[in-house]
Amino acid sequence: MALLLRCFLFSIICSFCIQAVDKNNFKTCDQSSFCRRLRAAKPGESKYELDLSSLQVSDHSIESVLLNTEAGIQLKWSLTALNGNIFRIQVDEASPLYPRYRPQLALNGETQVAKLEIVDRNKDIVTVQHGHNRAIIQARPFKIEFFNDDVLVSVVNGRGLFTFEHYRKRAEGEESQAQEDPGAWEENFKSHHDSKPKGPSAVGLDISFPGALRAYGLPEHADKLALRTTGQGGIDPYRLYNLDVFEYELESTMAIYGAVPVVYAHSPQKTVGAFWHNAAETWVDINNSKDGNVMSSLVNLVSGSKSENNVDVHFMSESGIVDLFILMGPTPKETVRQYATLTGVAPLPQYFTLAYHQCRWNYNDEDDVTTVVDNFDSHNMPVDVMWLDIEYTDGKKYFTWDPIKFPHPDVMINNLTSTGRKLVVIIDPHIKRESGYFLHEDALANDYYVKTKDGSVYEGWCWPGSSSYLDFYDPKTVDYYKGLYGLDKFRGTTNDVFIWNDMNEPSVFNGPEVTMPKDCLHHGGWEHRDVHNEYPLAHAAATFEGLIQRSSTRRPFILTRGHFAGSQRVAAIWTGDNAAEWSHLAASYPMCLSEALAGISFCGADVGGFFNNPDVELLQRWYQAGIWLPFFRAHAHIDTRRREPYLFDEDVRNRIRTALRLRYAHLPLWYTLFWEHETFGDPVIRPLFYQYPEDLDSLDVDNVVLVGDAVLARAVADARATTVSVYLPGGQDEYWYDMEDFKQYHGTGNHNIPVSLDKIVAFYRGGSIVPRKDRPRRASAMMRNDPFTLYVALDNKKTASGTLFVDDNESFEYRNKKYIYLSFSFKDNTLTSTLMDKTDYPSKEWVERVVILGPPSGVKGARLNSKSLGTVELETSYGNEDRSLIIRKPGVSIREPFTIKLY
Ligand code: NOJ
Repeated sequence: MALLLRCFLFSIICSFCIQAVDKNNFKTCDQSSFCRRLRAAKPGESKYELDLSSLQVSDHSIESVLLNTEAGIQLKWSLTALNGNIFRIQVDEASPLYPRYRPQLALNGETQVAKLEIVDRNKDIVTVQHGHNRAIIQARPFKIEFFNDDVLVSVVNGRGLFTFEHYRKRAEGEESQAQEDPGAWEENFKSHHDSKPKGPSAVGLDISFPGALRAYGLPEHADKLALRTTGQGGIDPYRLYNLDVFEYELESTMAIYGAVPVVYAHSPQKTVGAFWHNAAETWVDINNSKDGNVMSSLVNLVSGSKSENNVDVHFMSESGIVDLFILMGPTPKETVRQYATLTGVAPLPQYFTLAYHQCRWNYNDEDDVTTVVDNFDSHNMPVDVMWLDIEYTDGKKYFTWDPIKFPHPDVMINNLTSTGRKLVVIIDPHIKRESGYFLHEDALANDYYVKTKDGSVYEGWCWPGSSSYLDFYDPKTVDYYKGLYGLDKFRGTTNDVFIWNDMNEPSVFNGPEVTMPKDCLHHGGWEHRDVHNEYPLAHAAATFEGLIQRSSTRRPFILTRGHFAGSQRVAAIWTGDNAAEWSHLAASYPMCLSEALAGISFCGADVGGFFNNPDVELLQRWYQAGIWLPFFRAHAHIDTRRREPYLFDEDVRNRIRTALRLRYAHLPLWYTLFWEHETFGDPVIRPLFYQYPEDLDSLDVDNVVLVGDAVLARAVADARATTVSVYLPGGQDEYWYDMEDFKQYHGTGNHNIPVSLDKIVAFYRGGSIVPRKDRPRRASAMMRNDPFTLYVALDNKKTASGTLFVDDNESFEYRNKKYIYLSFSFKDNTLTSTLMDKTDYPSKEWVERVVILGPPSGVKGARLNSKSLGTVELETSYGNEDRSLIIRKPGVSIREPFTIKLY
């Protein structure tokens, strides 16, 4: 029966299952009336003027009337200085017919204002200073120029595309209506009708970045990391509209599951960001002067920039207000941190979440789950987490278990967790409309659902068939929903069960563009149009709070598919339904890098590819590359063949085991990076330009990821590859050590690396110290007290440094200073470990070995010195043809400072 239903559903939604995305299901800009309208704005014809006679000044902001001179409409404009080199520009209607929506969840609490000083003012121009930054505000036409240390870095409305469609009553009479854009007051797409009761309400703005060579950001797109010029060669603007796109296409600006409206413009001298804080459907045109558009150079000319390089960005949203943050940088690191101060960071996840996750749609029953884990164990392959997809439920009713296949979930879960493993189960936001289903009954009785434009409960079609959707904008729904995760409510679960929030774009199989109609209504009277991109965050945030309510001492783990700015505070993401194709393996790096720049570091892609069956070569390569993305989970569609790694021939098993073990060996690095991410706001994985802003040749490299600043990994994403070209950045003085044989390379650009099937292409940066746990185990829990090996990769000055964070791996006690944060440094032939903060954690871990890469020659021995051990002579030996020096058994606890001196 279940199978029949599935086939039926699939025949409705995927009559196109074999081929790629059906583009007809999704709008182009031309098919969207507001995108068409805003894109038609002509440069140089701005009708907006500031009335500076109305200027009001406070310590941190200025505000005035912004006039739509054509319509005679007054807008409220303000510019605010925020802590950490950020400007905020807001525009709303002075007296709107209806309130306009401001996103409620993206910002991490109140923004912190900073001092803004007026340094010059006349009736046409105001100049303000904020730290090293200056803004020159011009009244007629409205334009703002931003300078960092006297260098012009950004111009708002330099092209005059600013648009603010004020709410209005529809003009009466056929004649006047005929002059309007036909889609402004109601719009059809395929068989769907959008009633648009409030009429047109779009907002748009252009921002230029004089001097910029590239733009990055705006996830989620299955595209290259560096944003392409749109408008040319039929490239539509980048679309930000959370959508469930079946078999999404690569190298495309089409919208997919997530929408994070932040863009970074980069040149070796300056990196600047723009965060467009708007939750409605958004399109973004990009224009890079390097792609040969004259308009960019014109802006430069007009704005007085000497550079020929320029990137123009044009944001266009269907509703809401203009709320734009200019992140003044001026380095990639500072700009990304500025974004993090606004939207927050991912809280340190539990240790196990960074280990290997085994998923498929579906593990069929309790025995299946147990057998899979047993097989991992008997093949000595580590796995930490088993996942259950929708089939575990009783007829797709979330928070229930299939009574036949999962009659004793508690027993199954206890079995699993007795070996330190965890379980993740899926919980989607659509609710089966079945009488007798407690959740549906509760939702109807207490008014928890999203409504249609007429106020009745909205019904759409999803996995369970006819479904309604919880309204996470209603506090009482959130309150109720949180309770559902309680151990008393979600029968059979324990504190070792975590949550996968899928289909929360939201996906509606029979809805317009496979989502919810825009005229649906949420609590507070907001249209779905206003909140669409934020809905998945509202869902995941409610789940997060639910898990905190379940246990206030254990850190939640949630995976969400839809996402928005700020989602990093509550959940990890993955790149959705990719395919078992080489191109999709390649795409996983740029897609996650783009998310990491946009604050969402905890990102991964389905290892092996979701749709179709990977051949063994692709599968192995996927594991070898997947270990270098923060979220590491294998997943597969229900119609694919089983592909748990132990099912393959011995040589394949060996290669995948090696990859898994390399991931587990680096768990201390990942964990430390996530703590540093929470503490400082730095992304866990990074593109080359982030770490090497001046390396011009690295700007388009997106087939490698940097894990922190220590590891550089390259995906081998070509069938039968025997060599790959790896771009190593940093020039002659930057050393890179092949992680396998410690061969030393210099950062002088492309290197051809031979890649047998065994080869994992990864390097340590000379100058880094990476703590590893090299003893192979079956799950990360079993590595808890294992000792560390410190890999000390020396730079050209024979120095190196690194860090290590250790705590209890699962609780919030690290926020009460129950942790250890170590700094390692190597110089003058001495390795020193220092406790960084006044904190403590009773760790039993110790240092088992030190491996020095690129070591000094002629070393005869090493001498350890620590308070409790005193002075101890250590054995040393050269390895890998003298490319490494191994120091055996320092045996010192990581809790005490120590030195090891080579002699
Ligand atoms: C869509 C998700 O993207 C996929 O990972 C999952 O297996 C299916 N929904 C079924 O729940």
